[in-house]
Amino acid sequence: MTAPILKPDPNAIARAVACLRAGDLVAMPTETVYGLAGDAANPAAVARIYEVKERPVFNPLIAHVASAKAAFAQGDFSERAKSLAAAFWPGPLTFVVNAIAETTVCDLARAGLATLALRVPAHPVARDLLSQVGTPLVAPSANPSGKISPTRADHVAGDLGEKIDLILDGGPCEVGVESTVIDARGEAPIILRPGSISEAAIDAIWPGASAGAGSGAPISPGQLLRHYAPEARLRLDAEAALEGEALLGFGAVDAAENLSPDGSLPEAAANLFAMLRKLDTAHDRIAVSPIPRTGLGLAINDRLERAANRD
Ligand code: TXA
Ligand code: MG
Repeated sequence: MTAPILKPDPNAIARAVACLRAGDLVAMPTETVYGLAGDAANPAAVARIYEVKERPVFNPLIAHVASAKAAFAQGDFSERAKSLAAAFWPGPLTFVVNAIAETTVCDLARAGLATLALRVPAHPVARDLLSQVGTPLVAPSANPSGKISPTRADHVAGDLGEKIDLILDGGPCEVGVESTVIDARGEAPIILRPGSISEAAIDAIWPGASAGAGSGAPISPGQLLRHYAPEARLRLDAEAALEGEALLGFGAVDAAENLSPDGSLPEAAANLFAMLRKLDTAHDRIAVSPIPRTGLGLAINDRLERAANRD
């Protein structure tokens, strides 16, 4: 049976809450990408998420909560980490902290690590769902492991519709790339996965922010070289398409799909995964215009480089 796709009115939210409490899986919109949500405290629900995504069990999940207070009840946040949370939550920033002994996020969701990834999303549907459920929901991107993340309900339906219980359709995701993930355990934050919240924005609140996995930090599997991958071969920084290629454009170029004719990075991020998916269904080779490696362009190039890597 295919999961129903529901407009997130109060009835649909109530049905989603009941599903989640029963251990079922619900795809929910967030401002970054659609997440496949399950009860973080329920190992059977979490096991099903791994199974549905065909995700390596060693790849831990992000626990989503309704408020910073709820996050501080699960993980150990330093004063500086708390001020960073105050600046960016709700929003697309995920903190890796040490789990506290009382955490209700099960071991399987944390892949057996002593650490825990936490985020308070900003999307009104996710917020509604989280506050009504009242307990943490794990929600990896709602796509098969290693494939392109979904930014529309129909992406989720196409990829996982047969395997999950409900899809809430909140329209297209505003940000379009996954949250920035930081290791917030130390004296200064370490960026494990770039996203729309930049290193500079983080550094302005908590000085000393740096990019990279950092010694001793569990490597974020979002850093696996090939991830976010289409079937088609990708050629980056292409001024024009060669014969046999479809151009994914940026700026004033003649292209099969254009991430942003005006050269806007937020618009390009919001379009990235949907346009990659569309071109991937019809073409074997995709050329991509150069995209500036500044601000949100860093996160876009990070996803494109992983999508292009065939090792
Ligand atoms: O925007 C997002 O973050 C989306 C939406 C749905 O919230 N979620 C998402 O989840 O992208 P997922 O599971 O696809 O990516 C989670 C990332 C992975 O790179 C994972 O390795 C990392 O967070 N992560 C989770 N727990 C971690 C931990 N304890 N230590 C280091 N990295 C961790
Ligand atoms: Mg993912």
